[in-house]
Amino acid sequence: MPNPASLPPLWLRDNCGCADCRDPRNGQKLFQITDLPEGLAVAAENPAAVDGAPGWEVRWTPDGHVSRYAESWLAADVQQSTGTGQGTGRGGDQRTEDAKTLWRAADLTAPGSLPTAAWADYRADPAVRLRTLDAVGRLGFALLTGVPADDGQVTRVAETFGYVRETNYGRIFEVRIEENPSNLAFTGERITPHTDNPYRDPVPTLQLLHCLVNSAEGGDSGLVDGFAAAALLREEDPAAFETLTRIPVPFRFADTSGGGAEVTAHRPLIGTDPRGRIREIRFNNRSIGTLRLPADDTRAFYTAYRAFARLLLRPELQLDFRLAPGDCLIFDNTRLLHARTAFASSGGRHLQGCYADLDGLFSTAAVLRRGVLDQLADLFAEQGSAEYFGEDVTQAQHMLQAGALAQAEGAPPALVAAAVLHDLGHFHGEVTGHDLMEGTDNRHSHTGADWLAQWFGPAVTEPVRLHVAAKRYLCAVEPGYFALLSPASVHTLAVQGGPMTPAEAEQFAAHPYGADAVRLRRWDEAAKDPQALTPGFAHFRPLLAELLAPGGTASLGVGAVA
Ligand code: OGA
Ligand code: ZN
Ligand code: ZN
Repeated sequence: MPNPASLPPLWLRDNCGCADCRDPRNGQKLFQITDLPEGLAVAAENPAAVDGAPGWEVRWTPDGHVSRYAESWLAADVQQSTGTGQGTGRGGDQRTEDAKTLWRAADLTAPGSLPTAAWADYRADPAVRLRTLDAVGRLGFALLTGVPADDGQVTRVAETFGYVRETNYGRIFEVRIEENPSNLAFTGERITPHTDNPYRDPVPTLQLLHCLVNSAEGGDSGLVDGFAAAALLREEDPAAFETLTRIPVPFRFADTSGGGAEVTAHRPLIGTDPRGRIREIRFNNRSIGTLRLPADDTRAFYTAYRAFARLLLRPELQLDFRLAPGDCLIFDNTRLLHARTAFASSGGRHLQGCYADLDGLFSTAAVLRRGVLDQLADLFAEQGSAEYFGEDVTQAQHMLQAGALAQAEGAPPALVAAAVLHDLGHFHGEVTGHDLMEGTDNRHSHTGADWLAQWFGPAVTEPVRLHVAAKRYLCAVEPGYFALLSPASVHTLAVQGGPMTPAEAEQFAAHPYGADAVRLRRWDEAAKDPQALTPGFAHFRPLLAELLAPGGTASLGVGAVA
């Protein structure tokens, strides 16, 4: 655990959270970096409780200012700044390959692996909304089904998470066969994998395509993960990769009809961040203009361009599907390439599209995440303040203590979260904890895990699901464990089925989350100390926020021990 004096003083002081340094109403900094005195250094540091959890109080020299830092905050930061230095968590850049799950077609063809949601559920359920938006962030796309096939509906979809980006194509563009097409998209021609509007700077970072009619022969859709393709190019042909990140390409679009438009942008096909991580793909064979570069660069570019284009056409990279009326595809236009097969002019095919931006989508997801954390905080404050059946601590204290014990042991974040949340099922089941004491098994481990599964992945939910079974397991396999149980816990053990049989214990030990559940169980037993220093819920908020990535793992069902 780092102590403050070992950290860069200007950085540490810049992150002081006291009311003199940050406006408590909005969290914004109230000082200039130039206001900090020359020769700033830690004069004294003393252990101090911050939000009820271990931390440090720092006195600064030469100005005598006092700051407080939670130890978990200091530790989180050290984690972020190691490794690639980029930080893959939500604190890092959400746009680079480090924050993404790269895929090939085969990764998404198994049943249930396509990120899809029904429009009605998306609208009604914030958990479905968050999962959908997270899928766009992590996989690059999501498919909404059952979106009414009405004129202009696509903008209403965009408005659920952000702002429509109007362009020279209008607020909405019509993708259907036009008499006088300003773009090949508005014909029946095949369109190979591309990103839209590469000639715009900034480029629209999101695209939506909403299917109104699709009864023509042909017109099937394809998606390619451009980050996965670029990563493959880097592996197979590093020189080509380097060339495509280095050489700016003139993209151009001109519409000579009506009001007309002439848009140009000079950007490389593969955009990287300052650390060289893949961050943006622009690829559109239709709109690459004339390069005017030294001949060696031009030669290198064309060799690399062809290598990347060939790679993008590999069938194993392209996810093929067919849009049905009511389907609305939302995708990251800086990462995914989209394609369609040619279609006949008879029969009818009509999509409506619009553009929007990722920053709005990420913001909406972050606000949804904050809502979940507020809801959890309320549960701890309200229902959690109730007595914990027969123990000397409240339910909230019990769970927070379990989390603190997990953290003190250096458990991974998901297991700390499981410890903090393990008894939430007492709040949610139809059968209450009081019924449990009166002899009805409320299966709180299962109701809790099921409720948490809408927000958290299996590394959080499954130890919760198994924490009652873990007690039955430990009583069966560990001599002396039973003697550790509190009287209330002995009472509930009987209601929950008593110690496991040898066959049950064997099955439990083989479970992928069995060992985690056993660790959780030991903290559970110990977290009943009325004298213990107990951190508040706020202490665990950042850790929980990092784990609220439900689309990633929640759909991977993990069987539980019955
Ligand atoms: C577009 C486009 C794909 C399709 O309009 O940008 O690529 O399925 N359309 O018609
Ligand atoms: Zn397109
Ligand atoms: Zn417990």
